Amino acid sequence: MKTGGFLRAIIGISLAVLLTGCSFYDIPDGQIPDPYEGVVTSRFHTDEEMRDRMAKDVSKNQGEPLTIGLSQIGSESDWRIASTASVQAAFSSENGYNLIFDDAQQKQENQLKALREFIDQNVDYIILDPCVETGWDSVLKEARDAGIPVIVYDRRVAVEDEGLYSVWIGSDFNLEGERACKYLDEFLKLKHVKSNINIVDIQGTIGATAQIGRSAALEKAVMLNKNWFLLERVSGDFTEAKGGEVMEDLLESFGDTINVVYCENDNMALGAIEKLKSKGYRVGSDIDKGEIAVLSFDATRRGLEHTLNGDIVVNTECSPLYGPVLTHIVQALKNGEEPEHDIYIDEEQFATESAIGMIHIGNDSYEVKNLTQEIIDGRIY
Ligand code: AHR
Repeated sequence: MKTGGFLRAIIGISLAVLLTGCSFYDIPDGQIPDPYEGVVTSRFHTDEEMRDRMAKDVSKNQGEPLTIGLSQIGSESDWRIASTASVQAAFSSENGYNLIFDDAQQKQENQLKALREFIDQNVDYIILDPCVETGWDSVLKEARDAGIPVIVYDRRVAVEDEGLYSVWIGSDFNLEGERACKYLDEFLKLKHVKSNINIVDIQGTIGATAQIGRSAALEKAVMLNKNWFLLERVSGDFTEAKGGEVMEDLLESFGDTINVVYCENDNMALGAIEKLKSKGYRVGSDIDKGEIAVLSFDATRRGLEHTLNGDIVVNTECSPLYGPVLTHIVQALKNGEEPEHDIYIDEEQFATESAIGMIHIGNDSYEVKNLTQEIIDGRIY
């Protein structure tokens, strides 16, 4: 059974399940510390105390500070802002790192430029969250020629030679999509909805792994479910503003024939929900009574609040807190260890319909967590 969140992924890594030949932590069974336990904040952890908490459990660098060039995609979503906070807290000077952080403002050309600057500066390691999958071969070859190891996280790069990067760690975006679709399937059965289901897909940035995986899962589910119809798919670029804009266009084209809005992240879902409500549509789970069901990904604090209040039917987690685990990967590489090349993290799924506690995909079972205010209060992003 695959359950659990990012912290368990870190812990999994510590137990050397995901890595070969090395162990990051030596934590006796049953004594696994949870650095975020009991943390209650407003939306983001910008205060000092929170930064300290986020930096807990990092692997500190001993000796000369390591210079890390980190290319971040932008600040398009709550997820992304949390991800930035996490890496900045982990790679702090107090922890022995000199972080050169670059925000590419959602443009691959800026990321390519940043990577070349990191190479010119001869940084010790490059860390990259790639905006889209393609177009990285040349710059990664340049990094290899310069002898700089590259760690890729969150989204993937599609390169001819996977040896161009040392490690990738991130989500199984296709599985996230499959879990969302499977939940919808179970949900429609539970509610005895027999009519045709018209779906619109508000996609993420086209070509990003998060978009590719989530869109592909929906496409497959539509093929498998004879009464599901994909009316349209259009990119909202993972932003709230664009999510609202494209929702407006979709309403103009399809109006109240839409039954389900599959939003490929929370911010686009929030933008879409606001638009739907402002145009007089009802958002919720009662499809037979004309409500529009919204599905979302990320499970950020705001996303979960809108799940608990019924605006979002199911929210499939995508974890942004990569900072600590990235420090461990850097230290493993520094120590000459060979981390596993591709590492998937475990993620959770949240809904308020307690009758669906578990979904099954192939031979695997996944828990659907019954969302509570307590879970939301424990969310730090
Ligand atoms: O790559 C992760 C995705 O990017 C998250 O789902 C989204 O919110 C972010 O912008």
